[in-house]
Amino acid sequence: MKGIVLAGGHGTRLRPMTQVVSKQLLPVYDKPLIYYPLTTLMLAGIREILLISTPQDMPLFRRLLGDGRQWGIELTYRAQEEPNGLAQAFVLGRTFVSGEPCALILGDNLFYGSELIGIVQDAATIERGARVFGYHVSDPERYGVVSFDDEGNVSGIEEKPASPSSSYAVTGLYFYDRDVCDIAAALRPSRRGEYEITDVNRHYFDRGLLQVRILGRGMAWLDTGTPEALQDASSFIATIERRQGFKIGCPEEVAWRMKYIDDAGFERLAAGFGQNSYGKYLSRLSTGSLR
Ligand code: TTP
Repeated sequence: MKGIVLAGGHGTRLRPMTQVVSKQLLPVYDKPLIYYPLTTLMLAGIREILLISTPQDMPLFRRLLGDGRQWGIELTYRAQEEPNGLAQAFVLGRTFVSGEPCALILGDNLFYGSELIGIVQDAATIERGARVFGYHVSDPERYGVVSFDDEGNVSGIEEKPASPSSSYAVTGLYFYDRDVCDIAAALRPSRRGEYEITDVNRHYFDRGLLQVRILGRGMAWLDTGTPEALQDASSFIATIERRQGFKIGCPEEVAWRMKYIDDAGFERLAAGFGQNSYGKYLSRLSTGSLR
């Protein structure tokens, strides 16, 4: 399975913070936002990843993430000239995907919870159909929304409905079979002029091929599109990291734990940070003093 991180967009709700820099490069507590979705794909076992961003921000992402080799993954880049919708990821990513199943994660989405690894690793085995995740939110009208019949089967999927038929939002993490690029290529823009990922999901739903898994209350799904949400995400990460002493969304650690890099490679990465708290954390992991 391949993976795409969609990290473009205007970030208008975060201006002036996003006046000259992408939202996904802003900090969430102790690391750039992009680290969180990127490590979610890495935890799923996905090592070939395409990052899509704006032409202006692309060089910054390259400087930050490089070709991924330091983390035992392969990162490639593609610019999206205009943010015309999430489904464009599979139009821009067609050559990269090259007929394989592919996951998509939004660059401003943050997932956390003890079940996460099992959930994403299982989803990454999908060969036929699509798998998305429903999450109970207080403001479903801001998202794609899934509704269910009395037996709990999915009965519909709508984009930003004025009066939502359920409180289950579709999160920004999607797993698709090899047909996804053809489906995306055939889409027409919606009334708001975007190529909607909900239309891709509806295509699968209409054919009985959309699987929706509910992420329970024990999981955190945060998006970071507004100053309040960004602040909340930072506080959330800070609270857990300080309490536990483990970091969330740390690509060096994930690469090492997933065995994408060996001990020597991990020690080199740790040394590169010197004596700052991030470097000390990595060093303590690599010497076994933090277990
Ligand atoms: P949004 O939060 O819907 O849009 P945005 O980031 O442009 O922010 P704002 O509404 O404040 O202007 O985007 C969700 C994620 O998808 C975010 O990580 C940006 C990314 N995105 C793209 O990369 N390309 C696109 O065409 C769109 C619509 C979003």
